[in-house]
Amino acid sequence: MRQHHGTACVLGSLLLLAAAGTSSSATAPRSASGAAADRAAPVPLGRIVPAPLAVDPGGPGFEITAKTRIRVGSGNAEERRVGEYLAGILRPSTGYRLPVTDREGGDGGDGIRLRISAEPANKALGDEGYRVISARGSLTITSWTATGLFHGVQTVRQQLPAAVERRTPQRGPWRVAGGTIKDKPRYAYRGSMLDVSRHFFPVEHVKRYIDQLALYKMNKLHLHLSDDQGWRIAIDSWPRLATYGGSTQVGGGPGGYYTKDQYKDIVAHAAARGLQVIPEIDMPSHTNAALASYAELNCDGVAPPLYTGIEVGFSSLCVAKDVTYEFVDDVVRELAALTPGGQVHIGGDEAHSTSHEDFVTFMDKVQPIVTKHGKGVMAWHQLTETTPVPGAVAQYWGYDRTGQAERDRVVNAARNGTKLVLSPADRSYLDHKYDKDTKLGLSWAGYVEVQRAYDWDPGTYLQGAPADAILGVEAPLWTETLSTPAQLDYMAFPRLPGIAELGWSPAATHDWGKYRTRLAEQAPRWDALGMDYYRSPQVPWPPSRR
Ligand code: ACM
Repeated sequence: MRQHHGTACVLGSLLLLAAAGTSSSATAPRSASGAAADRAAPVPLGRIVPAPLAVDPGGPGFEITAKTRIRVGSGNAEERRVGEYLAGILRPSTGYRLPVTDREGGDGGDGIRLRISAEPANKALGDEGYRVISARGSLTITSWTATGLFHGVQTVRQQLPAAVERRTPQRGPWRVAGGTIKDKPRYAYRGSMLDVSRHFFPVEHVKRYIDQLALYKMNKLHLHLSDDQGWRIAIDSWPRLATYGGSTQVGGGPGGYYTKDQYKDIVAHAAARGLQVIPEIDMPSHTNAALASYAELNCDGVAPPLYTGIEVGFSSLCVAKDVTYEFVDDVVRELAALTPGGQVHIGGDEAHSTSHEDFVTFMDKVQPIVTKHGKGVMAWHQLTETTPVPGAVAQYWGYDRTGQAERDRVVNAARNGTKLVLSPADRSYLDHKYDKDTKLGLSWAGYVEVQRAYDWDPGTYLQGAPADAILGVEAPLWTETLSTPAQLDYMAFPRLPGIAELGWSPAATHDWGKYRTRLAEQAPRWDALGMDYYRSPQVPWPPSRR
């Protein structure tokens, strides 16, 4: 159910805003006449999410006008692709033509210039870093890679007024504050997981979520493709997984699955936005949909019925049967062929109906199947109860009540070379209720308000884990209770940008008091994009203008 926000809530936000004593023109409540003046004032340089590495404001800045061109290197397909993407965002709202033209065209160096180059200053910003220089007459984005250029475009997008996100012509001016931003991420892994098994989400909904992740410079979409309630990816060698195992979902709706072409379309959409898709087949538990589709995968040879409830931990692949590993080999082989990225996620959580001995046997046999097909192993942190293969990544999903022995096991694995992605359930689980009044979501790890989601440090969270073992952060969005894009929006926003900032921004910029103001300034953008979000009383929101 979507929740509606009454006048009382808006007034409460205004009072909070007054209490915070902010004088920011972008967040202050304003009269209709003040709005016109505000429109002329550009977003202060660097006041974006995630906070950039270094901001050096100064000068008059750049203004997009009817004459602006987007200039790229002639014959440089990557620069042109990012240029067309930027033009696609800017054209509908500005109403300008914004041609993407060759930089060497000879008609001046003005306009928006996009440049990929291996100059040492660019290389020093790494695979995803970029620089934006905003000056009178020119706005330049440079990077060593197309991904960095793309992140630079997201920065420019957030420096422009929120109305730029609307798809109909809006009034300008379209100014970017003057100065230089130099930026690169703190962590290489910044992701979110979308559970398309409990409720199925068609390709268009997944693309919408990818676009939201890209706006906050996230670079991994982990797709939870199978669980007890549904198998969501076509596997040619075991076709009933999708056609039967994908035929329902929580609550008994029709479910669905992605054909291989549809899945490739998702992977391509993500790649064009700097994101890798990490597919997860959860094993040996969370497998009822597979067990229902093929009787031979069950130890007793009897297929259980399809399942549409939300209990966990009752299913298990048959660890003792050879056919189980033929099945895993086929599935991983077909999935690896669809996965340009480095990892396949094999789950491993909540194997409550598999003995410890069987669990170890299973993980020992399955990990080499993943590496044989050229992919790295990723799994939930229960992998550390077995022997992680070299290069394995364990995804920690513990919370404040997780026992010390379990934490120690994860920390010891990290000391022995296993890399960690941090998804603490009481911080980063986007399916968790904000407070007792949240209608959607679960709460087994407690309530996760916006400050709780933001106010922790991935670098010190797991005491004893070496700093270089932390690959980054991921915010999982489980969907037992969520079935529409508006519901995904409401649970992901405004927590997801906080996790994105933990993954991207230097620890030195971490400051809840300042962050909540920057976060509030994102709301008009979400309104313009037609997104829902939770108007947390912890954040000094401007009035909604939807
Ligand atoms: C999980 O939440 N079962 C990984």
